[in-house]
Amino acid sequence: MSLNHLDPNPVGAPCVMVIFGASGDLTKRKLIPALCNLASDGLLSKQFAIVGFAANDYTTETFRKMLTDEIPKYSSSPIDQKLWNWFTERIYYVKGDFNDPHAYQLLKEQIEEADKRHNTLGNKFFYLAVAPRFFSPIVKRLGEVGLTKEEEGHWARVIVEKPFGHDLESAKQLNQDLKQVLTENQIYRIDHYLGKETVQNLMVFRFSNNIIEPLWNRNYVDHVQITAAETVGVEHRGGFYETAGALRDMVPNHLFQLLTMTAMEPPISFDADEVRNKQAEVLHAIQPFGPEEVLTCMVRGQYGEGTVDNQRVVGYRSEPDVARDSNTETFVALKLQIDNWRWAGVPFYLRTGKRLAQRETEVVIQFRRTPFVLFRNTSVRNLETNRLVVHIQPDEGISLSFGAKVPGSIMKLGLVNMDFDYATYFGTEHSTGYERLLRDCMVGDPTLFQRADMVEAGWSVIQPILDVWHALPPRDFPNYAAGSWGPHEATELLERDGREWHNAGNEGLGRRNRAADGAKTADRVGIA
Ligand code: BG6
Repeated sequence: MSLNHLDPNPVGAPCVMVIFGASGDLTKRKLIPALCNLASDGLLSKQFAIVGFAANDYTTETFRKMLTDEIPKYSSSPIDQKLWNWFTERIYYVKGDFNDPHAYQLLKEQIEEADKRHNTLGNKFFYLAVAPRFFSPIVKRLGEVGLTKEEEGHWARVIVEKPFGHDLESAKQLNQDLKQVLTENQIYRIDHYLGKETVQNLMVFRFSNNIIEPLWNRNYVDHVQITAAETVGVEHRGGFYETAGALRDMVPNHLFQLLTMTAMEPPISFDADEVRNKQAEVLHAIQPFGPEEVLTCMVRGQYGEGTVDNQRVVGYRSEPDVARDSNTETFVALKLQIDNWRWAGVPFYLRTGKRLAQRETEVVIQFRRTPFVLFRNTSVRNLETNRLVVHIQPDEGISLSFGAKVPGSIMKLGLVNMDFDYATYFGTEHSTGYERLLRDCMVGDPTLFQRADMVEAGWSVIQPILDVWHALPPRDFPNYAAGSWGPHEATELLERDGREWHNAGNEGLGRRNRAADGAKTADRVGIA
């Protein structure tokens, strides 16, 4: 992997970016703002052009106008007018149906014209921001018109958005379809979680700090928790979500990315395949779930009405495009074991859900107790253990909690925190999370993209759960109130093991307050 500051050539190579589904949300919300950020940071080649392709009735001119009106709403920082003028001059639009061979001829002509005008050296990549049913047909048609050919040093790549399949079989089929036309090196399966700064930092944190890695194993770690909690509901995506559910939508992709980054062995280099081999090994080492484990180690839930951020909100079944008797899960919690030397016996608890109490994505490493309780004759009844939390969002940072004596004449212990906050140290970045991934595709670095075998390994873990859940529909949905931390079974999943979820609320003091209130922390969260 080319870590930015070490990269000898950080600027993306000359190319044309073709966006399938260009009239959709992703283009204006993420892709164009990300490209503008790259351009303003000097990381986008001057030899660059964009061709939008979709069925909507735009021309190049009206498409440019639409983006000019819309982008300021979504860009994280004001866009320099000169830069935007430069940018719009290289945006083109082709109207066409994804299944119409003639439209691909028009697309090809437009790409060639843009290539000549902006000297993009024949390089191109196709971003498939479309419904998954179009992935295979689009790639097939691109192949038919010769747009996927790589010759005379020109490259052609395809970025595929999630969901990559809806189960193991469909993921295998999709891989097979794509490989009829493309080589694995041309396929960039994107997972936007890997564009998040703290996710990438997990590797740097682990492998560049000698005090961390020796502790990162079964000898010191009691268990690991990975949470991706959202306060939003399904928003306007009810139709899609009904066919997906929380398990498919978040676990084999985003949560497994966090899991593999956390649990992988050190790679021998940051070469793309070295890193991805180590991630794949983790997925292969996950103990397979039999029907019994699915019943005991998995929890599913669906939100009913409730209060989120002081607002009353409707239950999932009352959301637009959702069946009134829907059994789609909006919450999932699971416990898994990784059968390898490093992690044997250390449970990993994963959970994700919509309409939860707080937006928080984090990885929690809960360390074991000290081997000998020296304080048993003091008033300290219950010693807390060290906890390391990697905060992915909304705040990015790392905190380490440890025991300290609360000042005073009696022995009173408290848990205090050392906080590293990205924004405080490095300032806030105007990032959408897509900058890094787009640039990596332009320079041909696939480290942060999923390989075919990783996708299939992820689905292999999930498939038995899908099967059992399909055979045994839930009887108690909705089973958690919007604004809570999910169904009580999720709490019990950990309680049975004598553990509890790390909810920011547990500590009685939010992380943001802690930074300001550091000195008093020991008292507030202390145990006596
Ligand atoms: C998407 C899911 O992939 O990730 C959404 O389809 C989810 O349902 C989103 O809300 C979460 O992304 P982020 O970056 O907001 O955590």
